Amino acid sequence: AAPHPQKGAARSMLTVAHRGASGYAPENTIASCDKAVEMKADFIEIDLQLSKDGRIMVIHDDSVERTTNGKGNVRDLTFQQLRNLDAGSWFHDSFAGQKIPTFDEVLDRYIEKCGLLIELKSPALYPGIEQKVFDALASRGLIENRQTKVIVQSFDTHSMKRFHEIAPAIPIGVLVKFTPKGISNAQLDEYKTYANYVNPNKRLVSKKLIARIHERDMKIIPYTIRDRKTAKAFLQLDLDGITMDFPDYIKA
Ligand code: G3P
Ligand code: CA
Repeated sequence: AAPHPQKGAARSMLTVAHRGASGYAPENTIASCDKAVEMKADFIEIDLQLSKDGRIMVIHDDSVERTTNGKGNVRDLTFQQLRNLDAGSWFHDSFAGQKIPTFDEVLDRYIEKCGLLIELKSPALYPGIEQKVFDALASRGLIENRQTKVIVQSFDTHSMKRFHEIAPAIPIGVLVKFTPKGISNAQLDEYKTYANYVNPNKRLVSKKLIARIHERDMKIIPYTIRDRKTAKAFLQLDLDGITMDFPDYIKA
């Protein structure tokens, strides 16, 4: 598996702004990502989907309906149709006019300022999205440049294995949903063959799980912490990062 971007450094708890600072501004917009930088988040987490004409867009849901004034699926709308939508008003009138960003735009605006935790949201819907994401990173020299902080993650393990084959130098995260059974050793051993991070739902987090992930020389950044009490409790643990809607809860 690829080296961690901070390999060799002492373990430090990274603050990851979930969909940008999405507690303060509409998720996955320039407004929420700017807010994350302003709050000195270490990483911005973003979700990627593809437009009908193959542009990589930064939006969480497969459909535009929850976070814009439009209707339909991202994959059925062209780049221009998606760009005409308002991605801010649903959150608050003061964000009217925010657009769905492109991945290119986010890379160019933030890569020098902040790490990017890039989630391939529904890669099974978008054959070839791994290569497209690789191409966007490669065209900016970000594959071999270990000064920049990029992690690619997904719940879809097939996609992450594919991405690792295409770009073995890029750190990979496996996102794990909550199940009462937890995560088995066999699963962790399998993730280890291509991943550097196991990023579970916060309800799966225990000291034991953290130790089992670290024993395998992987890292753990759970999602998504939205309250101060959990942020405080998680700060006491030996985690590698926390994905949060309110990144200032940690910095405070
Ligand atoms: O960083 C992990 C987290 O973003 C996964 O859940 O639904 O917010 O994309 P979701
Ligand atoms: Ca996400």
